Amino acid sequence: MNPIDQIAELFAGQGAEDYFGEAVTQAEHMCQAGLLAQQSGAPDALVAAALLHDIGHFQGELSGDDLMQGTDNRHSHSGSEWLAQWFGPAVTEPVRLHVAAKRYLCAAEPEYFAKLSEASVYTLQVQGGPMTPEQVERFEAEPYCTDAVALRRWDDEAKDPTIQTPSFDHFRPLLEGLL
Ligand SMILES: [Fe+2]
Repeated sequence: MNPIDQIAELFAGQGAEDYFGEAVTQAEHMCQAGLLAQQSGAPDALVAAALLHDIGHFQGELSGDDLMQGTDNRHSHSGSEWLAQWFGPAVTEPVRLHVAAKRYLCAAEPEYFAKLSEASVYTLQVQGGPMTPEQVERFEAEPYCTDAVALRRWDDEAKDPTIQTPSFDHFRPLLEGLL
């Protein structure tokens, strides 16, 4: 099966499920993140990263439910590795770093933590809590750290049940252009 169809199936299947304590489904959350990236004028690869950032919740042996029960499912890493079959680092690296970016922002911007949703505060603890100063330094040396931080901010905003969410198909031509 063509990769875009494979991804579309995941959005339509597991993606239609609840997004762990948020007011939108997982697919709506990811499509909203893609839309926010697009509205910010982000390059196509970063729009794709925003759209696909949580695909790891649908992949690998541990699910998002495991994460909510206290076991880190490392969905940023499993998602990025899976996407690397078809996409380059400008897509896969911000995906890999989007959980680290939350831990980074909690250390770098005290006001950031206050804005996190309840579910995000809970998973932050499971994922290792705010970064230490050494981890902050290492994160800032990552070539895609700025993109990962931008993705993270869209991720945090993309939980709005009142906005018109584009469907996965809206992003198909963009994804096809990146394969
Ligand atoms: Fe997310």
